[in-house]
Amino acid sequence: MDEMDRVTVIAPVNIAVIKYWGKRDEKLILPINDSVSVTLDTSIMCAKTSVCFGPEFTENEIWLNGVKTSFSNPRLVNVLDKIKNIAATQRSVDNAVLSWKVRVCSENNFPTAAGLASSAAGYACLVTALAKLYKIKTDVSVLARIGSGSACRSVFGGFVRWHAGVNADGSDSIATQIADSTHWPEMKALILVVSDIKKHTSSTVGMMNSVNTSDLLKYRAKYTVPRRTEEISEAILKKDFAKFAELTMKDSNQFHAVCLDTYPPCVYMTDVSHKIVEIIHAYNDMCGELKVAYTFDAGPNACLYLLDKEVPTLLKLIKYLFPTSNLDFVIGLGDVDGGDCKFLNSFPIQPQAKDIIKYVIHTKVGKGPEFVTSHLLDKKGNPLNVK
Ligand code: ADP
Ligand code: DP6
Repeated sequence: MDEMDRVTVIAPVNIAVIKYWGKRDEKLILPINDSVSVTLDTSIMCAKTSVCFGPEFTENEIWLNGVKTSFSNPRLVNVLDKIKNIAATQRSVDNAVLSWKVRVCSENNFPTAAGLASSAAGYACLVTALAKLYKIKTDVSVLARIGSGSACRSVFGGFVRWHAGVNADGSDSIATQIADSTHWPEMKALILVVSDIKKHTSSTVGMMNSVNTSDLLKYRAKYTVPRRTEEISEAILKKDFAKFAELTMKDSNQFHAVCLDTYPPCVYMTDVSHKIVEIIHAYNDMCGELKVAYTFDAGPNACLYLLDKEVPTLLKLIKYLFPTSNLDFVIGLGDVDGGDCKFLNSFPIQPQAKDIIKYVIHTKVGKGPEFVTSHLLDKKGNPLNVK
């Protein structure tokens, strides 16, 4: 087997600022509203996936984080089937190749299934690699969407919009780039990891329950999101941070209000999450303008968006309010000294108990998927790093 038969890709996570929540088609993964996200740098958080195929393999196999897992997951099967169908239509590989089995080996360098968008990075990675392996030419965001809705936004860097589309076959439900990763280099993200254990209600199940029971979700999809997607796209293009922050926080709040309006309710934010919300509002009030935005996905962890000049002070504040015994508390781009201390003495919220926040991932806006040559499968297609 030569190098051409192994393809390896790294792909980013993305954290939405206008949330996707609710499908109009469960099988094709078509959303009820547009969404907007920021792609985060792969040098800090990424999925890495190697794929290969061969006549000697007797079954499709996948290893995730060093552990062999079942390939029977319907989403995985759908993704592979769709790619093979396109390959057959485009005659991009020999017919014999279409009968070969595949091997997939993937690793995330951050916690999987903990509300940190591993499925988005994972499926963006997988489809980019498989599309190259099968030599097909197609919109990769459509393929990623079949794996996990939010994954379609991870096929681009920078600021990305997923258009819900109206076609029944999903052909217009694609992601496009609002601005690339160099557009707003001052934009940074701090992910406050409150918990990195698996969430109890998956996004897939939670949003299905919301579609079936929440009246607020109908209002949100019809009236709120169409306006917000336009406004936030404009704020991004103009680099209007205050507007970006206001829309981001309001949308996170409305998304979690929808979760509570769901019957039975899905509760993703915890007391710590709510404390973080209170802290960010108090900070912005003290500054007299919106300097930091919070957003929460289907889990308790906060993603804070802020400009780099704000990072030192905010990190100082977080360390003061959330004392830690973790020597590596701020990872990724790391800690930054020099924050303004005057806030600490007069801050209206008292320090919390120790070790409530496990660690902070300091990161920035980044590029989309990239091909790399350090494979996770050896030349015979056997996985490296198996546990
Ligand atoms: P998260 O909040 O991390 O996206 P989800 O529960 O939505 O969590 O999705 C986790 C699922 O996504 C995993 O159980 C697995 O099926 C899939 N997944 C995660 N990472 C990868 C990866 N690198 N390659 C393929 N699939 C992945
Ligand atoms: C709260 O993309 O994980 O993160 O399409 O069922 O795989 P499926 O759901 P998923 O949902 C993401 C929900 C969210 C908001 C967002 O990323 O827009």
